Amino acid sequence: MSSNNIESGLIENRLFAPSEEFTKNARINAEKLAALHQQADTDYTGFWAQQANEMLDWHKPFSNVLDDSNAPLYSWFNDGELNVSYNCIDRHLTNNANKNAIIFEGEQGDTTFITYLQLHQRVSAFANALKERGIKSGDRVVIYMPMTPEAVISMQACARIGAIHSVVFGGFSADSLRDRINDAGAKMLITADGGHRGGKIVELKSAADKALEGGCPSIESVIVYQRTQHDIKMQAGRDIWWHDAVSEQSDHCEPVWVNAEHPLFLLYTSGSTGKPKGIQHSSAGYLLGAAVTNSWVFDLKDDDVFWCTADVGWITGHTYVAYGPLAVGSTIVIYEGAPTVPDAGRFWKMVQDHKVSVFYTAPTAIRALMKLGDNFPNAYDLSSLRLLGTVGEPINPEAWIWYHEVIGKGKCPIVDTWWQTETGSNMIAPIPGVVATKPGSCTKALPGIMADVVDEDGNSISEANRGGYLVITKPFPSMLRTIWGDDERYKDTYYPKFDGRFYLAGDSARKDADGYFWIMGRIDDVLNVSGHRLGTMEIESALVSHELVAEAAVVGKPHEVKGESIFAYVVLKGERPAGGIDEELTKTLRNWVGEQIGAIAKPDEIRYADNLPKTRSGKIMRRLLRTIAKGEEITSDTSTLENESILDQLQGKA
Ligand code: WT7
Repeated sequence: MSSNNIESGLIENRLFAPSEEFTKNARINAEKLAALHQQADTDYTGFWAQQANEMLDWHKPFSNVLDDSNAPLYSWFNDGELNVSYNCIDRHLTNNANKNAIIFEGEQGDTTFITYLQLHQRVSAFANALKERGIKSGDRVVIYMPMTPEAVISMQACARIGAIHSVVFGGFSADSLRDRINDAGAKMLITADGGHRGGKIVELKSAADKALEGGCPSIESVIVYQRTQHDIKMQAGRDIWWHDAVSEQSDHCEPVWVNAEHPLFLLYTSGSTGKPKGIQHSSAGYLLGAAVTNSWVFDLKDDDVFWCTADVGWITGHTYVAYGPLAVGSTIVIYEGAPTVPDAGRFWKMVQDHKVSVFYTAPTAIRALMKLGDNFPNAYDLSSLRLLGTVGEPINPEAWIWYHEVIGKGKCPIVDTWWQTETGSNMIAPIPGVVATKPGSCTKALPGIMADVVDEDGNSISEANRGGYLVITKPFPSMLRTIWGDDERYKDTYYPKFDGRFYLAGDSARKDADGYFWIMGRIDDVLNVSGHRLGTMEIESALVSHELVAEAAVVGKPHEVKGESIFAYVVLKGERPAGGIDEELTKTLRNWVGEQIGAIAKPDEIRYADNLPKTRSGKIMRRLLRTIAKGEEITSDTSTLENESILDQLQGKA
């Protein structure tokens, strides 16, 4: 480790270069990286064509690379054919059939090892079960599962037969599940009786039943994986146990060759409206992004054990659990439960027990575990670790240094990876054997990713540290193709500015004097709570759908562990509670939001007022509400407020 402690003002300038040993063994050295950038800069499509040929196995080779004739509805490799499951599993059978593909640990400590050969058999048998239940290429299948190998098997089985999956995070409520099933028009739901988390059972099947009772006309059948073995209801004719569905199936299933552009999956994410959007990803372009970044950024090699702690309900669990590491033939670790069961040493015990070499998690998890003390990690042998990663939000330098010193023992590079559900794979991240890191910066764009910071007019900002819009100036293979069923919303959301030339990420950022990117935050009304994206409008809609609520405004408030917490201002239809406090009602409304969206969306604080502050044109003054939530002094002009006395109420002073 070479660190250089130069701090100038607020700008973090410590630089951490990889060790010589790391660099010597890394897949990409400085020379190789320079060559990749050079090729991408001079022959962009040639660069991606070469990567696609090297990294993926094609059933029918492509001759077209990028088709931008219908921009921004781009397509890549669109006359080629392949199968994603074949690329993740079958092609490793020649050399690695008996290598572990998956190491699984349940929350209660049960472990399962699945080799590539066994994964092939289990995915094939389950794919046959899907076919028997009428699932064909292009059909949508919703997956609502605990974090067990069966979640990955479900996804891979869909990919194997060309079915389009949409995984819904197990923490989302029945209502959220129903909305997603209906938006996708899913024919089948794959779920489980439950999962183990935090010492409790997550009631997946009963939530699924509630979702379906509310009306999901497209669903024809439900496959239920038996995990917890507690009592649940099975509906005859609709529901079948996973073990019954696969029991008679052959463990051979020919992959369905699909066009490169065939949708691989939809994944719903929040935006600045009340309705989550189904981000649609392609087969080949997506898999290419997943494969190259698992190789370049995570430096995965044959003997690595990669543990990305994300749930498959998020994009990170797609690209760095279910697809990418398998595409490059690695071994993944999957953990079902909470990081603090039985205590805050769980992650570190698992690193020791499974000899994890590459570990990828979210800053919020790092901060939470850091607070619980060094004695937990110090109790375990973490010497197998050689590379660490973070994702989801900017990491504060204090947590970065803890991760580096206490977990990585000063020898593991940290890859801070900036990307989004929409980009499908890492966009801005260090190549660990080459790029020296700075705590809190995701460093530089990867080869073939043209990221920039631009001003209002779309001009590149050359001045160091001046903030602007984070954009990607050229289409890239793993980018979203559209919003499911809504091309117009896709165009309006991601290409609303700069004459549609650039992909607008929705983040603000700055570049420092060394050209390193620093993400500054969202430019839209999207919150980042524990690395999860939540739309303020979505939470507001949930609140106003309660019979007692007239109006609501939701803002984010900085939070030590979660990054942001949810702060809601509520106007009731009836009288404002005396002194603005009503703990019973607050509890009711929090639970209500939990039911509408999921526990992660419950407001941390609710403040009641007679009115919300609005501009003359009727827009809610969110900046003012954010200032108040933080408890800061109001410096902006409030003279246009209709009723200045509500300021005291909003501030909790009356
Ligand atoms: C938003 C995307 C990508 C998987 C996890 C979240 C924020 C993501 C970083 C990072 C600073 C980050 C951005 C982005 N974000 N990674 N390394 N540093 N901010 O996926 O739910 O699609 O959210 O997360 O604001 O736009 P997501």
